[in-house]
Amino acid sequence: MGELEEKFVAEAFRENWISTVGPQLNRFEAEFSEYSGLPSVAIASGTAGMHLGLKLLGVGDGDEVVCPTLTFAGGCNPILYERAVPVFVDSERRSWNLDPDLLAEFLEKRARGGRLPKAVIVAHLFGQCADMDPILEVCSRFDVPVLEDAAEALGSTYKGRIPGTMADVGVYSLNGNKIITGSTGGVLVAQEKERVDKARFWSTQARDPGTDYRHSELGYNYRMSNIVAAIARGQLKILETRVEQRRAVAFRYREAFAELPGIELMPQADYGRHTNWLSCFLVDESRFGISRDALIEALEVANVEARPVWKPMHAQVLYRGTEAVGGEVAEDLNRRGICLPSSSSLTDEEQTFIIERVREACLHRAGARRAD
Ligand SMILES: Cc1ncc(COP(=O)(O)O)c(C=O)c1O
Repeated sequence: MGELEEKFVAEAFRENWISTVGPQLNRFEAEFSEYSGLPSVAIASGTAGMHLGLKLLGVGDGDEVVCPTLTFAGGCNPILYERAVPVFVDSERRSWNLDPDLLAEFLEKRARGGRLPKAVIVAHLFGQCADMDPILEVCSRFDVPVLEDAAEALGSTYKGRIPGTMADVGVYSLNGNKIITGSTGGVLVAQEKERVDKARFWSTQARDPGTDYRHSELGYNYRMSNIVAAIARGQLKILETRVEQRRAVAFRYREAFAELPGIELMPQADYGRHTNWLSCFLVDESRFGISRDALIEALEVANVEARPVWKPMHAQVLYRGTEAVGGEVAEDLNRRGICLPSSSSLTDEEQTFIIERVREACLHRAGARRAD
C-alpha cells in the first residue's frame, strides 16, 4: 500500500460513505473505464464477476461452457453455480493458456454434432495473455461468446490491447494476492453498457427501481464497498510501477538461474507484455538434480514459501467425470511448475536469499546424487 490509498480511504471516511454506494466507488469505476476503455462495474470479487459474466452471456442450467483446465477454482466454479456443464480444454506450451488449436478442433466437433457450447472462458494466467486472435476468430466463426478471465492479468498486454477488453465480457480480480488489490474486490467490463448496467443491477440484489423493495429477478450481494474502492483507486494509479517491479523480480531470478541446469522461467510470448505477476519456473528433475516438490520442501525449510503451478481442474475431485480435451500439458505444468515469491515488496536481500537457497538445493542435491 502507498500514500494515495491511505489518502483516498481517509476521504471515504470523511465523506462517511463506507458501504456499497459512494463517491470513491463512482470515481474508481470512471478511472477503471478510462484505463480499460470500456464501461465497468466494481464488484466484490473476481469470482462474483465470473458468475455475473456467465449470466450475461446467458449461461444456465445444462449449458456447456468451455474453460481452460489450467486455472484457479474461482475462474470456473461459477459454471457450477449456474448448474452449467464445464468442458476443460488443455493449455498450449507457448503461453500456458488455452490452446487455440484444441479449442478450434473442439468447436468444429461440436458444430458437426449440432450443439455448440453456450460460452467460452479464456483465462490469462500468471500475468500473461492467452493467444486471443485465433481464439476470437474461431469463437466468432461459430458465434460462441467469450468471457475473458483477466483476474491475474491486470497490467499485461496482447498486441497492444488490454486483457479483459478483447471479448464480450472481461473480469478482473483485486484480491489481496493480485498485482494490485483493493484488499479484495473485482471489476467487470463489457463492450455493451447495457450489460454492465445489468451486472450492476444483479450485484445489488436486483432491486427494482423505487423504494418498496420489489424484486422481479434473482440478485446477489456482489457490489464492491466504497472503502475497497478507495484502496483500489490508489492501487490503479501505481499499476505500471507494480508491473515493473514484478517483471524485475522474475528477470532477476532468470538471470541468477541461467547458470543452473534444468530451471527455466515460464515462456514470455512475443505477442505482448507478461507482467510476471507470479515468477513461475519449470523444473526439469533430470537436469536440475531434484524434483519440483523437493525444491519446494528445501525452500520451506529455509522459510521461503513457494507453490506449485495451478492444479488442473480435470484432475480435481470436484470435477471428477467432467469432459476434458487433452490435459497432458496442464498436468506437466502442474507437476514441474513452481511459483517463487514474487511480491513487489520483496527486497533485494530477500531475493538474494531465495536465489541462494534455490542454487544450494540444485547444487548440493545434485552433488549428493553424483557422490552416490
Ligand atoms: C484465474 C482466476 N480466476 C478467478 C479468480 C477469482 O478472483 P477472486 O479471488 O477475486 O474471487 C482468481 C483469483 O483469485 C484467479 O486467479
